[in-house]
Amino acid sequence: MRIVFLGDVVGRSGRKAVLAELPQLRTRYAVDFVIVNGENAAGGFGITESICEELIDAGADVITTGNHVWDQREALVFIDRQPRLLRPVNFPAGTPGRGAGLFTARSGAQVMVINAMGRIFMDALDCPFQGVDRAIGQGELKTKADAIFVDFHAEATSEKQAMGHYLDGRASVVVGTHTHVPTADDHILPGGTAYMTDVGMCGDFNSIIGMQKEEPMQRFATKIQRSRLEPATGEGTVCGVAIETDDATGLAKAVSSFRMRGCLRPRELAMWA
Ligand SMILES: [Fe+2]
Ligand SMILES: [Fe+2]
Repeated sequence: MRIVFLGDVVGRSGRKAVLAELPQLRTRYAVDFVIVNGENAAGGFGITESICEELIDAGADVITTGNHVWDQREALVFIDRQPRLLRPVNFPAGTPGRGAGLFTARSGAQVMVINAMGRIFMDALDCPFQGVDRAIGQGELKTKADAIFVDFHAEATSEKQAMGHYLDGRASVVVGTHTHVPTADDHILPGGTAYMTDVGMCGDFNSIIGMQKEEPMQRFATKIQRSRLEPATGEGTVCGVAIETDDATGLAKAVSSFRMRGCLRPRELAMWA
């Protein structure tokens, strides 16, 4: 099975780049299943129902999120009628929406998608390791799910590597999001799980993690908050990762990160060329 994941979509620049590239990417490479992290899609903060639908129309099967999921208050309401939108699985019990789900790819294959959030340098939350264990318990690889995909939204590299190894051989893919900067470590772990510490963002890289540079720069330099953070408006780069899984085992056969457009050095998706 061919799976593509795109990192955090940030603001209009990110949306424009994804809407321009995703439909043709999906067709050109005959991608079976697409996941997009949409936590910063609405002006850099959260996601609205119309943006969520726009991403689904462009070819996303599932939208994952993270710490910014509720920045647009309407998400608290529409998440319950939009099963393709996930929030972290280890949020407090009773939180609206779901953190994991079983979805049908166009080929008919069953894909389990899990969104979890880290606890290092982030808000205190339930244990993400127990959270993914509970979710995977309902969909063992190759018994209920043909592939299991985990978006681990976390700050610390070490916590993300720990999650990768924790799920090695039990998930098809464990990739990180949240830092908005792609790492160069896409590879297959010894047990057969495709792993990448952070996929990066879909947004303007002439920025500070997708935001216009001036305000964050002066906040760091002076410790004074002068204005709101606004997404950068230059051409967005699409940062993604492509994974090919083995239909017999559900484990990864190949993984390759890619980048398209904007000011970040492009990296062609050579794996399927
Ligand atoms: Fe983000
Ligand atoms: Fe985040």
